Amino acid sequence: MDFGIKGKRALVCAASRGLGFAIAKALAEEGVDLIISARDQAKLKQSADVLSKLSEGKVEFIAGDLSAAADRKKLIGFTQSKFGALDILVHNVGGPQSKPAQSTSSHDWQEAFDKLFLPIVELNQTFLPSMKEKKWGRIITVTSLSVIEPIANLALSNGIRSAVTAMLKTLSDEVAADGVTVNCLAPGLIQTARTDELMESRRQMTGQSKEDYMVDYVASIPAKRLGDADEFGAVAAFLASQQAQYVTGQTICVDGGKRRSVH
Ligand SMILES: NC(=O)c1ccc[n+]([C@@H]2O[C@H](COP(=O)([O-])OP(=O)(O)OC[C@H]3O[C@@H](n4cnc5c(N)ncnc54)[C@H](OP(=O)(O)O)[C@@H]3O)[C@@H](O)[C@H]2O)c1
Repeated sequence: MDFGIKGKRALVCAASRGLGFAIAKALAEEGVDLIISARDQAKLKQSADVLSKLSEGKVEFIAGDLSAAADRKKLIGFTQSKFGALDILVHNVGGPQSKPAQSTSSHDWQEAFDKLFLPIVELNQTFLPSMKEKKWGRIITVTSLSVIEPIANLALSNGIRSAVTAMLKTLSDEVAADGVTVNCLAPGLIQTARTDELMESRRQMTGQSKEDYMVDYVASIPAKRLGDADEFGAVAAFLASQQAQYVTGQTICVDGGKRRSVH
């Protein structure tokens, strides 16, 4: 199926590896012009080279830390200088630290807010006006299944990502009539470097061996396996597509059926 987004301009944040890279890859395969960002310049360049080979479109990259206001300013300036405006904006960033709620400090919450919430607000404020003017735009945000079912030891992710989801739902109402869709993609457990880190921290709480913990975890997923990053990227590409024009204000779980609630 042709998604009708060839030649559209996208910024995919935190896209040097993992889910962000998989989204960039799926968009590259659709012929979308891309800017990708992450902190590690060398890894970013490597990933941009891979994407360039897959894409008929442009692939640009800029290194920077989304938590840092100065780097966000550079990212915005770079994007405007390369593309002028954006058609597709993908919010993603590395996860916050794992902590139980009772061990979190005000500083932890501020840090998580600066990383997971503020960049979304700033990038949206910058790039939404031109999307509205053109009557076409896609805003896609990587969140987590934790916004639906809070996950033990991930108080910062549970809390801030839920706030992100509510803020974006509010925004989706405001811009739906302007042809701009705003959706969240909530991964269950998709195999990436972050998954290994998370599984290790959760396993330590149970005292189980790595193998036993994974067997138990996978048994709780109806699909009986972890997700593949390309499967996640494909859903993002659909949300960016012309065909997904009438899908907005949603959190789509990509979780092999793990979400228990029916609403
Ligand atoms: N994988 C899953 O199953 C899963 C499940 C639930 C939620 N999530 C969430 O989804 C997001 C992506 O997960 P992932 O599995 O793809 O993680 P990952 O494999 O660790 O990749 C994270 C990406 O974000 C970049 N990044 C990290 N911190 C950044 C920062 N401050 N500024 C700019 N770029 C930054 C990394 O590059 P640099 O290190 O070079 O910056 C990398 O490209 C995370 O927030 C994660 O918590 C993932």
